[in-house]
Amino acid sequence: MTDNIAGKVIVITGASSGMGAAAARHLAREGAAVVLGARRADRIDALAAEIIDAGGKARAVETDVTKRDDLKRLADAAVETYGRIDVLINNAGVMPLSPLERVKVDEWDQMIDVNLKGVLYGVAAALPHMIARKSGHIINLSSVAGHKIFSGSAVYSATKYAVRAVSEGLRQEMAPHNVRVTIISPGAVKTELLDHISEKDVQQANRDYVAQIGVPAETFARLVAFAINEPEDVGINEILFRPTAQEL
Ligand SMILES: NC(=O)c1ccc[n+]([C@@H]2O[C@H](COP(=O)([O-])OP(=O)(O)OC[C@H]3O[C@@H](n4cnc5c(N)ncnc54)[C@H](OP(=O)(O)O)[C@@H]3O)[C@@H](O)[C@H]2O)c1
Repeated sequence: MTDNIAGKVIVITGASSGMGAAAARHLAREGAAVVLGARRADRIDALAAEIIDAGGKARAVETDVTKRDDLKRLADAAVETYGRIDVLINNAGVMPLSPLERVKVDEWDQMIDVNLKGVLYGVAAALPHMIARKSGHIINLSSVAGHKIFSGSAVYSATKYAVRAVSEGLRQEMAPHNVRVTIISPGAVKTELLDHISEKDVQQANRDYVAQIGVPAETFARLVAFAINEPEDVGINEILFRPTAQEL
């Protein structure tokens, strides 16, 4: 079996909870050095300590992906500490769903800033290192909502469709540079994502649904590990997964 995770330097945004934290634990167990970014410094500090206690390699860097300088600092910290960036997982995201008629413009702005501009800032920070080394892998989080639009998901879906557009453009442009690009589009996964929905009726409906059918965050960790583990001449470009019980 190929072992293409051990020894890699993997930067993960949104590593303080949910799928980012699950991926960090899983990839560190597989022998990667993980560099964790998120705003809640206490959470990523504790996760890095947990990984180090278990014999792994980890560093935490407080990061707000809406700030371009923060992502540069995160990428630079990986290079300073471990010498390079093999993989960047642009996982940070927010999903304050609501119908457009409720005009939650600040939340629209936040979704565009975190889910789309945050991904672009991550790409901007990591790409020069990867192109210089002629090696790298960028993994961007889209969603089933980046393939379909639901009532209340228009702006969230717009950001996740945009992530797919950026990722496919990046894949084509990076082919000569030996940089792999992967889009991962999860369905319902049990994480903290619904905690920040401000419209209580929308939040409750989504909570009920995800509680009923959602799969654990470790599902994502296994699938991201699969994409990374493939040999360097194979790019897993798209992974779309849902709980078996999810209809749409
Ligand atoms: N759960 C699902 O069903 C589902 C389905 C499809 C796609 N997704 C996508 O999966 C990704 C991970 O979400 P999750 O489900 O694991 O939710 P989660 O538990 O809420 O995790 C989201 C992460 O994003 C981080 N984040 C939010 N704003 C940030 C900012 N400005 N700067 C840096 N980090 C920020 C959060 O950290 P801090 O708050 O500490 O900054 C947190 O670590 C997101 O892109 C989400 O859109 C999730």
